[in-house]
Amino acid sequence: MNYKKIFIKNVYSKYWFKKSKEYIHNNINNTVSIKFLDEVCKTNKLKDLLEVCIGTGAPIANEMQKKGYHVSGIDYSPELIEECKRVNKNINAKVGDAEKLEYGDQTFDLVYCFNSTWCLSDILSTISEMYRVTKDNGIIIFDILNDDNPKIKKIFKDTKFENENIIGMIYKTIKNLVKLILNKGYPQWEFIVLWNFTNYSYIKNFTNKINKQKIAAYYLDENTCSLIKVTKNFEYHERLFFKLKKIS
Ligand SMILES: C[S@@+](CC[C@H](N)C(=O)[O-])C[C@H]1O[C@@H](n2cnc3c(N)ncnc32)[C@H](O)[C@@H]1O
Repeated sequence: MNYKKIFIKNVYSKYWFKKSKEYIHNNINNTVSIKFLDEVCKTNKLKDLLEVCIGTGAPIANEMQKKGYHVSGIDYSPELIEECKRVNKNINAKVGDAEKLEYGDQTFDLVYCFNSTWCLSDILSTISEMYRVTKDNGIIIFDILNDDNPKIKKIFKDTKFENENIIGMIYKTIKNLVKLILNKGYPQWEFIVLWNFTNYSYIKNFTNKINKQKIAAYYLDENTCSLIKVTKNFEYHERLFFKLKKIS
């Protein structure tokens, strides 16, 4: 039994339902992701998009649909998909597993996944699947939390401590109680390491095996509000974005 998936479906979805309504506004990651997707689509004349882990569709899928793209999406949570369909009837959303996409080979021009790869049980299966359902010369885009970065490494270490170590578990319980008493934040009672961080080398080594063209990595530059290509010092960046053109 995959406890992480059960957690995503039954617990995390409730948290995300609320959280997604707060974070859609003024979030630079989302603004830049939408701008980047739009530029890539325009440059390469891409129309048919799939968002993997679409959540409620807010804000990325909604914005892309409003810009005139044909947007499909999948998410593991029936509750989030229901909300996505309610909010935007023009998005073709369905329940599904990112690691086993229920679409035929070469269905979409562009397949993307934002703010989500760290929730997945198996990121490489997901990238393989995103690659499979992308047309030749189509594009795959996703982001990761970079565990070469010291801050991200610490978050991962702390999360493991709070979920796997008895003292950490007591600490987490007290933290949850404080959140409840002060009515601040979101208590999370299950002891499960949800976050799954990865790094540039891991992604590059995998995609080099499946694709002729090398994957490009980017970081988000807050000053210019854009994604800038990165080729060294990957550890400086908490989040990395990847773009892969499918050349089989
Ligand atoms: C942090 S939310 C991000 C949602 C959306 N992409 C966004 O940018 O707002 C992560 C999403 O990943 C979904 N998810 C996690 N594991 C999944 C899986 N194996 N298959 C499909 N969706 C999954 C969750 O249900 C949740 O909606």
